[in-house]
Amino acid sequence: MAAGKGTRLKSKYPKVLHEVAGKPILAHVIATALQVAPAHDIFAIIGHEADRVREAVRDTGINFVLQADQRGTGHALMVAREALKPYSQVIVLSGDAPLITAATIQNLKAFHTAHNAAMTLLSADLADPTGYGRVLRKSARAAEVKAIVEEKSANPTQKTIREINSGFYAFSVPELYKHIDELSTNNSHGEYYLTDMAAVFNRARKKVVVTKTANAAEILGSNTRAEIVDLDARLRLAKCRQLMAEGVTIFYPETCVIDSGVEVGADTVIEPFVQLRGKTKIGADCRIRSYSVITNTEIGDNVTINPLTIMDDSRISNGAIVGPYSRLRPGSEIGENAHLGNFVETKKIKLGKGSKANHLTYLGDSEIGEGVNIGAGTITCNYDGVNKFKTVIEDGVFIGSDSTLVAPVKVGRGAYVAAASCITDDVPQDALALGRARQTIKEGWAAQERAARKSTGK
Ligand code: UD1
Ligand code: CA
Repeated sequence: MAAGKGTRLKSKYPKVLHEVAGKPILAHVIATALQVAPAHDIFAIIGHEADRVREAVRDTGINFVLQADQRGTGHALMVAREALKPYSQVIVLSGDAPLITAATIQNLKAFHTAHNAAMTLLSADLADPTGYGRVLRKSARAAEVKAIVEEKSANPTQKTIREINSGFYAFSVPELYKHIDELSTNNSHGEYYLTDMAAVFNRARKKVVVTKTANAAEILGSNTRAEIVDLDARLRLAKCRQLMAEGVTIFYPETCVIDSGVEVGADTVIEPFVQLRGKTKIGADCRIRSYSVITNTEIGDNVTINPLTIMDDSRISNGAIVGPYSRLRPGSEIGENAHLGNFVETKKIKLGKGSKANHLTYLGDSEIGEGVNIGAGTITCNYDGVNKFKTVIEDGVFIGSDSTLVAPVKVGRGAYVAAASCITDDVPQDALALGRARQTIKEGWAAQERAARKSTGK
């Protein structure tokens, strides 16, 4: 069920597309469902912003059922009648509860089958059950359920019940659709509540049972921003724990933001306040220092990323040292043992093995060979306001500080560019290029100026 608006979030985006651990809440639920059933047996009931929701999870290959007007969780299942016709059983998952595990779904299914019930609900004991539907058992010890009462309709005694309805159910499909039209909108929200099926089945003398999860955290939903942030923190901490179990040291893991798809090698150390996003892959024995934000970037072994480095869609080879304060924009490929230092920005470049650009530099659309030294303040002028051009710097070149390289331009192997040069023409191999005005000296000029000022009193 993923058709609801998520009114309590006060958001223009549908609830199930809010993200936890770097991906939509609904995508987590679908990923778990796919561990239990093939995509062609999974249906997402969508409604609010249906196109956007469908687009966001289309690549999972599952089916969609449209609930054009959202008149409650019971109504969501009414709409799915045709889609579910070929099935004898259905497991209903809440699209806003992303922590559910395949093992729990399997248990729910097995319990339902073993009890031959019309409806089985999954429950949990919560320390604070506020906001959830409460489970009214027929007797404290039996699995049979009389009804589910929603928070809004619960009386003070019912509100003290800590066993809550998780929003995950198993149904006999024929029984569900034989009785679903007995639901009414006679409740505080004026909606068809799927939870009322418990009472409906009881009136029809059909069996309703409950099984309780051992791990209550698995069923937590995301009705409010506070709940979403809490789920995100739980998933991220779980990710950090998994990486630590695999041999990664993460200091103050609660300050780190690591997406679920990230891989990190053993003996790598991650300092506080690091973000590793998307498909980032980091090798072994690296050190990722504080406040670095690394997205979709592949990093080799023995790499040091110094503080406050930002990298997107780039590749860093073994032994390289990057930062502090480097910014690597998409397509930056940094070679083995290369160094990029403070305030260096790169975009779509190849920097060869052992090459260095340590200070205050912009390198864009450039192919830079091995053993090159790029002096402080070097700028590749890759853009003429309309088009982008390429700079080629061959192996062993030395670029003096404060040089500008106006692309398209090529500096040949082993050449030397004098400091403060503006290079507009290709530099041949092993040559020296001077692209600046010759210095002139005026002996005594400053002393004469001072004397003149003193005599005129200015
Ligand atoms: C629901 C249960 C409550 C349970 C809680 C567990 C009902 C009436 N109540 O409450 O007993 O404790 O889940 O988290 O079911 N949805 C639709 N179509 C609709 C309405 C909702 O598809 O017309 C979807 C929502 O997108 C959401 C899910 O159903 O993914 C649950 O709806 P929500 O409004 O979050 O129900 P709760 O108030 O949390
Ligand atoms: Ca909910």
